[in-house]
Amino acid sequence: MTTIIQNLCKLSQNIFSTFIRTNGGSNSKSMAVLDEQNILILKKLFAQLTLNDINFDLNELSPTISPSPTPSLSLAPITYTSIFQNEYFSLTIFGFRKPTSRIPLHDHPGMHGFIKCIYGSISIKSYTILDNVPVPNEILNKIPELSNPLCLVPSIYVGEDIISINDNYNQIGTLTPMDRNIHEIRPVTNQAIMADIISPPYTKLTNSYFYYYLDTIYDQHLDKNITWLLRTLDSRDYYCDTLNYRGPNIILV
Ligand SMILES: [Fe+2]
Repeated sequence: MTTIIQNLCKLSQNIFSTFIRTNGGSNSKSMAVLDEQNILILKKLFAQLTLNDINFDLNELSPTISPSPTPSLSLAPITYTSIFQNEYFSLTIFGFRKPTSRIPLHDHPGMHGFIKCIYGSISIKSYTILDNVPVPNEILNKIPELSNPLCLVPSIYVGEDIISINDNYNQIGTLTPMDRNIHEIRPVTNQAIMADIISPPYTKLTNSYFYYYLDTIYDQHLDKNITWLLRTLDSRDYYCDTLNYRGPNIILV
């Protein structure tokens, strides 16, 4: 009997192993275009995914080790489970243990992404990167310690999406190389769990890496529609622990 997780990975493999990336250079904004019909089928299937399909134990979201010694030992604010990954895509679970847990602003160079909430509700704040906007001196002057102006990335704040556990494909968050490529994700409920499909995945094999982004910088005299994001490799207080995947086997040939 095939399982939803098997079907989801098989469909992702079919889609992401065949679509063509038109740029081959250092430009991280791949112009790859995915077939809309295939993406709709993927989103509808992804929307059906539940905790039961991956055998995720909600006790794993407990913020402390239980039964705890004294004093109680806190666990990481976020737990991470890799369900499947190859050179074409990754399927990953993030469990938010606390209302203050968050995945800080980060980018997805040249990637497509799909996000499904499978427990509680999550907030996704997204930014779209702008090209060819020189950094105004008014912005540079705000951060005199900045050694490289290239670390300032112009963007448009797209907005905040709240997505909840729901089997409607409209509740699947999306990003592309050109749109909503930077985001921050946090739980809206006390705890929450999300799954994401990313293509190509963050791996050495695909030469994919990513940056975090710090404070947003404005100048009231400038174009308020542009948000300047400060790029960094430092993740500040973000850390996860990892859980092994305990769901059904996934076999792709
Ligand atoms: Fe992300």
